[in-house]
Amino acid sequence: MSGFTIAVDGPAASGKGTIAVKLGALYGYPVLDSGLLYRAVGVRLLESGGDLSDEVAATAVARTLDPAELERPEVRTRAAGEAASRVAIFTPVRQVLREFQIAFARREPGAVVDGRDIGTVIAPWAPAKVFVTASTEVRAERRWKQLLLQDETISFDDILADIRVRDHRDTARADSPMAMASDAVLLDTSEMTIDGAFDAARRIVETARARWEQSLG
Ligand code: DC
Repeated sequence: MSGFTIAVDGPAASGKGTIAVKLGALYGYPVLDSGLLYRAVGVRLLESGGDLSDEVAATAVARTLDPAELERPEVRTRAAGEAASRVAIFTPVRQVLREFQIAFARREPGAVVDGRDIGTVIAPWAPAKVFVTASTEVRAERRWKQLLLQDETISFDDILADIRVRDHRDTARADSPMAMASDAVLLDTSEMTIDGAFDAARRIVETARARWEQSLG
């Protein structure tokens, strides 16, 4: 038996993280930003002098990942995002990180998990699934504003290029992580404020919750 699992998927800088945190606060559920797992693997691999194209080394790091590593500020940098998307293409890395995510998603009375493949691979049973997206330019602008707080020399064009590369890596192959579940609701936040996007997500989740409660009888 699982609680009320809310899967929030979408591309880089779509606003899914903010929406997930706000949904968690609304319902009082724990929130897992699954991207942090891949970021933490990438960061530790780099710190140990490893190579981001080394699947065996990346998998070994994933096996010994400590959840405390998700709290490190280093996992929130631009370099960590890039490293994450490189180690995330390795199937064994994804397999190792899967159990932790599934256990989290099953927490009672509910949990919010955000990522790329939560509604499809991690928690296909989730009663509420939102796929958050926004145009490439809007996402680049949001990420740029975030990263400017860490490094004011970063240019918008560099971040736009990063986002394009990340999107390509997340979607290019048949087994790429990012996919919208057939029962997910698409939420395009390009023209929305943070509050507007959260409100739209909340309505989607409330509808799903009513259906879920009804199914429990
Ligand atoms: O959401 P984010 O920017 O923190 O994600 C960093 C990278 O991690 C992203 O480019 C792809 C990968 N990722 C993934 O493959 N599956 C997830 N569920 C979450 C993130």
